[in-house]
Amino acid sequence: KTIAIVGCPFSGGQPKHGVDKGPIHLVEAGLITQLEELGWHVLFDGHHQFEEISTASDPPIGILKNPRLVSHVCECVANVAGEHVRNGHLPVTLGGDHSLAMGTISGTLNSYPDACVVWVDAHADINTIDTTTSGNIHGMPVSFLLGLGPRIPEFSWVKPLLKPERLVYIGLRDLDAGEKKILKDNNIRAFSMHHVDKYGIGRVVEMALDHVNPNRDLPIHLSFDVDALDPSVAPSTGTPVRGGLSFREGHYICEAIHETGLLVALDLMEVNPSLADAESVRQTVAVGCSLVRSALGESLL
Ligand code: ARG
Ligand code: MN
Ligand code: MN
Repeated sequence: KTIAIVGCPFSGGQPKHGVDKGPIHLVEAGLITQLEELGWHVLFDGHHQFEEISTASDPPIGILKNPRLVSHVCECVANVAGEHVRNGHLPVTLGGDHSLAMGTISGTLNSYPDACVVWVDAHADINTIDTTTSGNIHGMPVSFLLGLGPRIPEFSWVKPLLKPERLVYIGLRDLDAGEKKILKDNNIRAFSMHHVDKYGIGRVVEMALDHVNPNRDLPIHLSFDVDALDPSVAPSTGTPVRGGLSFREGHYICEAIHETGLLVALDLMEVNPSLADAESVRQTVAVGCSLVRSALGESLL
């Protein structure tokens, strides 16, 4: 029962400053003690210090912004998180922007090639270099993991280890046109907020797991973007979209995944303490901590 906190103060996958402060706020809010109180042994030896790559030496590739920096940082994260998984520890990666999941999921799949990914987000983050209109790589990590789109030599370390049938989304509500086509063409199962409204979160999680993990015997990587929650619940994030998961719906997903006993890695991404007022920041950081606790076994009774 050992968790390794992987603090990733990184914002290069998107343009807003402050998301690199997310992990620092989460740890300062007491996350580590809270997890120890749940009975975990927690490893944490400080936030990761990433090597700087200056913008001068990192010109755009097509429209992609900071491509070498993002690639390099994600490769480091893949090695660090992957090492924890190899040692039988459960990495909890605190972002930072969601491009980091390119690293964390690579790390998981290196040890557990049959792992499934539950991606909880307002966004699908599955743009390719051909479909992205923003050039922000935090909107693209899933396409790299699946090996979609043109090959980009700077990202050649990312192996397409994720199979479309081992990926499922919950909470979607803001997809680019190209992303909708990618989901259809690749038969990727996605539960949008429409499905949450229609079936309720209980049925949605059950259907999502039935799809990626029918016998409940495959390892699970949960990648949770805090913007999956409604902005009234988690206001301090870079790309908020109204109509999101309620406080309970978000926590229910984490609790249900904990109950499977199959969780092997967890990401909590896109907490940006520089956006919004102090009370909104406090609220978002607190929700981030409680989502992590729920995924790691905190129960209501
Ligand atoms: N789809 C948009 C883009 O490609 C937004 C992505 C937002 N991603 C996130 N991890 N918050 O830029
Ligand atoms: Mn998002
Ligand atoms: Mn995301």
